[in-house]
Amino acid sequence: MARIRFPAGFHWGTATASYQIEGAAREDGKGESIWDRFTHTAGKIPSGDTGDVACDSYHRSGEDIALMREMNLNSYRFSIAWPRILPEGDGSVNAKGIDYYRRLVDALLAAGIRPFPTLYHWDLPQALEDRGGWPNRDTAGRFADYAHVVARAIGDRVKDWILFNEPQVFTSLGYGFGLHAPGRRDRDALLRAGHTVNLAQGESFRAIKSEHPESRVGTAFSMAPCQPAGDSEADSEAAERWHRYTNCWFLEPALLGRYPDAFPGGLPAEVMGIRDDDLELTRAPLDFLGINLYTRSHVAACDGGPLGLDAHHVMARGGEQGPTTDFGWEVWPDALYDMLMRVTADYDRPVLEITENGCSYSDGPDSNGVIDDQRRIEFFRGYLDAVARAIEANADVRGYHAWTLLDNFEWAEGYRQRFGLTYVDFPSADRTLKASGRWYGRVAADNGFEY
Ligand code: FCB
Repeated sequence: MARIRFPAGFHWGTATASYQIEGAAREDGKGESIWDRFTHTAGKIPSGDTGDVACDSYHRSGEDIALMREMNLNSYRFSIAWPRILPEGDGSVNAKGIDYYRRLVDALLAAGIRPFPTLYHWDLPQALEDRGGWPNRDTAGRFADYAHVVARAIGDRVKDWILFNEPQVFTSLGYGFGLHAPGRRDRDALLRAGHTVNLAQGESFRAIKSEHPESRVGTAFSMAPCQPAGDSEADSEAAERWHRYTNCWFLEPALLGRYPDAFPGGLPAEVMGIRDDDLELTRAPLDFLGINLYTRSHVAACDGGPLGLDAHHVMARGGEQGPTTDFGWEVWPDALYDMLMRVTADYDRPVLEITENGCSYSDGPDSNGVIDDQRRIEFFRGYLDAVARAIEANADVRGYHAWTLLDNFEWAEGYRQRFGLTYVDFPSADRTLKASGRWYGRVAADNGFEY
């Protein structure tokens, strides 16, 4: 047994997202989002679940904060629903939406918890999708305007901002594969959406800094180390291409003002709609990189390949050596260590925040009402040990946010995947801390654990 320690001042938190927890889908002037539309379109979510009520956090954020306090947490990553602030995506501001987040932020500060909001965790105002959505270059300017409105409203109390959650995931699943809102399957739209998001990232970064130059602004990137499936040179090159596309496509336009070299046929600049000087607009010296990590990928070279991989000439699959969670994802803590070390080496030791990491296990209450989710505790022990090792090896990791505070609406999976440290009884939305939540609370209080 060894003592695993974290640096003084380390941020211990959980992460959530507006559509996954808030409910109150039509209250207080909120506009429709693409997720409202998608979940209410027959056949899109196999279970038929929607986020209409979810965990009802819009009305129960006091209980959520009480849970965080019980777990001794000092950081909370939540997201702001753009259609609560600007119901039509642009134009008039909904004061009740601003009030809701201002109250939430004030309550967090009063509880000694850092508010760490994400401006976009996938709930685009439907009105903007009706005007072309992310593939429409105009959406970048709308996003920057929205960021400006929010920074003006609560930037006196919020010091750390996340612009986007997982741009690679929402553009791919939303516009390429049609599995997430808005459910489009269009290769060109996907490529254009990616470029708009990169423009939006640069412009919103500047919008926030223009109001509050001292604020710290980053993005939460989905990341998974890409390892060659075999020993061949071709597999190594394929793994590198896939790394550049899946991990760095939204990072290098910001940090380095360039797209990484991910397509053997060269950058599809015309389809992406790249104009002269755009890569100056995408440039933004992000103050930190948020890392969301769940899996690793094994990558083989191939001619063509399945949809979405064909232009890269790769075949990728998740790791298959470790045990799997109820989502089917492999448990492999070194994936997190490897990823932290790779970005530390490649981008000159950036400030890092783990913005998501977690696991789905369906454990529910036993006859005494206790949720004894030992597999989740084992998961967090392994991954937190990996974070501590990376810090020891010089990665500048400032915080860890477990996904997630509450069992919630897990996108295309609906309510059947439970990632929470807290069990939520749907539809009553009553909350009970799981054994893992109690364990995590002790780790936060002790800033470490025995392993
Ligand atoms: C991530 C999302 C988050 C949650 C987890 C399980 O991709 O950012 O909202 O659904 O996966």
